[in-house]
Amino acid sequence: MSEINYEKAKEKLVLALDVNTIDEAKELVYDLKDYVGTFKIGLQLFTSQGPEVIKLVHGEGGKIFFDGKFHDIPNTVAKASASLVQHGITFFNVHIIGGSKMLAAAVKQSKDTAKQCGLPAPTILGVTILTSIGQRTLADELGISIDLDEYVGKLAKLAKDSGLAGVVASAADVEKIRKTCGEDFTILCPAIRPSRAVVNDQIRVVTPTDAINKGVDYLVVGRPITEAENRKDAARKIVEEILIAMDNYEKK
Ligand code: C5P
Repeated sequence: MSEINYEKAKEKLVLALDVNTIDEAKELVYDLKDYVGTFKIGLQLFTSQGPEVIKLVHGEGGKIFFDGKFHDIPNTVAKASASLVQHGITFFNVHIIGGSKMLAAAVKQSKDTAKQCGLPAPTILGVTILTSIGQRTLADELGISIDLDEYVGKLAKLAKDSGLAGVVASAADVEKIRKTCGEDFTILCPAIRPSRAVVNDQIRVVTPTDAINKGVDYLVVGRPITEAENRKDAARKIVEEILIAMDNYEKK
């Protein structure tokens, strides 16, 4: 296995740091930094530990996906984006249903702030529709009567047209999103389960191999690694599976 290819496969793996304490986060980052390209910091950890956890990951050479799903008026989202970008994070996300003005404000402010700070501009990903929302909730509670799949495609297109670099999506939607938004659009996909792993509460899961075959750029994995008896081993196996799938995909 070549070092370069291993690094490429590792870059695709995003580990969800879904813990409450800095000590738990530290243990995960120290243990897994050789197998993971990006660490996902979500609301659970950030509301508990704040920016300290960003310093922790950066201190160990990891990249950060800040999963804060911003959704507010354009001015507020722009200000929050500026504060976040100053920390030097690599990815963050916003709800696409905030509309084009909110999306464009996040993009512009992130670029401006990154430039002022001499940092690379982060990749901003849009959240289409939460996987916890089904067709019935969409129609009966939210009053949106179009087909859920069609809605996801529409939102992805809006994200692209508003300047976002990509979306967070279910693997099932990748083909449709690629068709509308093109090959350069970044797709990050949660609900990944290695073959034979416990599915937990995820409904539509795919294996790392399936995700790579579908053209997913980044794979978010949490519990199959964090709750494994041997975390390093679990993470290494996933990186190896990604690597083999990438090799086969390129040969196609
Ligand atoms: O532990 P598990 O691998 O299920 O973790 C998946 C991570 O991806 C969690 O942090 C979860 O919040 C996030 N996520 C998800 N499904 C979505 C969006 C995000 O599981 N549709």
